[in-house]
Amino acid sequence: MNIVVGITGGIAAYKAVNVVRGLVLAGHEVHVVATEAALRFVGRPTLEAISRNPVHSELYEAVAEVRHVAIGQAAELIVVAPATANTIAKIAAGLADDLLGNSILASKAPILLAPAMHTEMWQNPATVANVATLRARGVQFVGPASGQLTGSDSGPGRMAEPDEIVAAALAVAAGGGPAGHRADLMGRRVLVTAGGTREPLDPVRFIGNRSSGKQGVAIARAAAARGAEVTLIAANLDEGVLTGLAGSIAVRHVSTTLELQEAVLLAAGTAELIVMAAAVADYRPETVAAGKIRKEAQGDSLQLRLVRNPDILHELVQGRHDGQVIVGFAAETEPDAAALLELAVAKRARKGVDYLVVNRVGWTETFGSDDNAVMVLDATGGNVAQAHGDKQSVADRILDVVA
Ligand code: PMT
Repeated sequence: MNIVVGITGGIAAYKAVNVVRGLVLAGHEVHVVATEAALRFVGRPTLEAISRNPVHSELYEAVAEVRHVAIGQAAELIVVAPATANTIAKIAAGLADDLLGNSILASKAPILLAPAMHTEMWQNPATVANVATLRARGVQFVGPASGQLTGSDSGPGRMAEPDEIVAAALAVAAGGGPAGHRADLMGRRVLVTAGGTREPLDPVRFIGNRSSGKQGVAIARAAAARGAEVTLIAANLDEGVLTGLAGSIAVRHVSTTLELQEAVLLAAGTAELIVMAAAVADYRPETVAAGKIRKEAQGDSLQLRLVRNPDILHELVQGRHDGQVIVGFAAETEPDAAALLELAVAKRARKGVDYLVVNRVGWTETFGSDDNAVMVLDATGGNVAQAHGDKQSVADRILDVVA
């Protein structure tokens, strides 16, 4: 996506470097438009190196390219961080006396502002009215936070942290429009598991399953795009599945069910939403051989004794804290739709989850593929949603229901 990051003249401009970096690392093409005042706070070479593009600031530069409107016309999202009281007033008034003002006025893209100013300025009736005007036009805001300001004072007016701005920008981008109705997990802590656990038999072999982690990672991406702070517990995922993750997704790698259990229980305490999309082994070998199991020592058959793994989802439900929403998945091979639903309703009741996402799996179905088809059951066992298509859109539909 082509994202314009406007940087205006406030001390928080130094933090805008990390906003640019976060958006670039999330795979976006970022063009910085800095006001003259912004360039007193942060150097052009820094912004050019981090954005990997020239920084624009002059209204009368490249006039033949009609740059004063071209940047805004090409933008798919405009993020202004920091947005000073002065800039907010200018945008509200529709002023175009610098390149950023022109770019915003010439653009139809969604706009996200990250205000940064002293508390008195933020609370000034002029700013309050300007913000209300912009909100009414569909402009989105992230922050400001309350905290230590530039001097010794503190209060509301501190720019939101770069990670939060990046997450909000991605949420607005995912919403595809200025309404931002999908920024509905803003600041929420979400825990997602993805992939398949592996239970070792010896140093070279394991019992596992064919989960690629694509569906779980799609949920993590969708939650981050809605503004959540996500912990993704990744069981044996290929690096390819994890490329281009937003900075607001912290990844923890695990392999066995017991490792997954430890990581999940550690993160669950602060999570407000938990989605267990990982395919978890119900059994593990009772003993793990220290060296490679040799066929010469076994003869024609090999007997394995397996023991039950903990049911992590069940433990989560037992330890659930107030307000925590828990979503389980059910992977079933049942071909008949009515029988599948019956199995799912029973599993939902057994597990005690708030929502159960049911998908059919098979030799060629769902595991590893880019598409999925799901039903979502709620806590009454009612079938509240269905979705099919690529795993990212299925993830979004699931979050539409639970967010
Ligand atoms: O990874 P992909 O290739 O994209 O494929 C996606 C998927 C098919 C793996 C995914 O959509 C899915 O269905 N994941 C859950 C797989 C699973 O373990 O289903 P289950 O019906 O066996 O388990 C029910 C629920 O209990 C699941 O939420 C599971 O995470 C959880 N569980 C299961 C066993 C166990 N010991 N502890 C658990 O917490």
